[in-house]
Amino acid sequence: GKDGYRHFMDKELHEHPVVIGQTLQRLIDPATRRVMLPDLPFDLAGLPRAAITACGSAFYAGLIGRYWLEGMAGLPVDIDVASELRYRDPPLTPGGLGLLISQSGETADTLAALRGMRARGQHILSVLNVEQSTMARESDVVLGTVAGPEISVASTKAFTAQLSVLACLTIAIGRARGTLTAAQEQDLVAELLDLPSRANEVFDQAPAIREMAAVVAEARDVLYLGRGSSFPVAMEGALKLKEVSYIHAEAYAAGEMKHGPISLIDSTVPIVATLPSGRLFEKTLSNLQEARARGGRLLVFTDTEGEARLRGLAEIVVALPTVSEFTAPVIQTIPVQMLAYEVALLKGTDVDQPRNLAKSVTVE
Ligand code: F6R
Repeated sequence: GKDGYRHFMDKELHEHPVVIGQTLQRLIDPATRRVMLPDLPFDLAGLPRAAITACGSAFYAGLIGRYWLEGMAGLPVDIDVASELRYRDPPLTPGGLGLLISQSGETADTLAALRGMRARGQHILSVLNVEQSTMARESDVVLGTVAGPEISVASTKAFTAQLSVLACLTIAIGRARGTLTAAQEQDLVAELLDLPSRANEVFDQAPAIREMAAVVAEARDVLYLGRGSSFPVAMEGALKLKEVSYIHAEAYAAGEMKHGPISLIDSTVPIVATLPSGRLFEKTLSNLQEARARGGRLLVFTDTEGEARLRGLAEIVVALPTVSEFTAPVIQTIPVQMLAYEVALLKGTDVDQPRNLAKSVTVE
């Protein structure tokens, strides 16, 4: 049941902290605080590259995974949505890692892409929530997201569980390839283990998120901006908003704004930005200043460190707990999904069963 929540989406949003914790628990040894993957039928150190594919939200999780795998494990990554990948003829290096991500394990395009990757000599590792699924049966290894059943059509908690798995996989590959030292691994694991309590603090921001929702609910179009590993978070926010509130939203890499979408900006197109403090903060901030100068209304998800630097520029600021650059996309995902939910409530849509959508897309 809904445990007293109005919708499954709201209930599942509140399960983020627990789900992240449960998923990490499976992959981190509590005694040594090291990442422990199940036995693999291939050697992580010898992987030439990885090809990631998925659909929808799971694809955005994959984009964050690419950021981590390239940046922290030094592994070259190709990534595409499954519906495109299956009809491309990518020359994959034999012995590479085929990395599939799916909540249901039944998505037709992702399954077809899995089969195509196998035919091209890839080791198949799937990140799945439903462990008794078709994709599970056809994979060499399954890393489970321990999110429990996700009933709401819009995916929420599965996403942060997928990120938790991808983060651990990155650490394991980085260790195997020698890009991460034992000391670095300890630090990264500590950051991961800190996530459930940081994620809990996100709900304290519900009032500011509702304030944002009141602005977004009046709009016809919304622009989401992010940079680096926060860009896929912006994509996730835009998808979720479209899905449950039926408001048109588009996510752009913040630096691409001046190559086109800046012409859209006026006071009727709110800009939702995901902007954690860190290396890329100033870069994105200057994009936001450009948008503000053109009359754009800025609704910004940042952290307690970024908040002070944004005062005066943004109309509404959601100040999330400050975490490392590594785990920031996990924390940022929760409030952008909450925003979509709050807007849907204001619009009165059928939140758990948005029109035209099915939970599991088993046809092409
Ligand atoms: C978005 C959403 C969809 C799914 C996509 C993939 O909220 O739910 O975009 O993420 O259909 O589904 P799975 O993960 O089952 O392969």
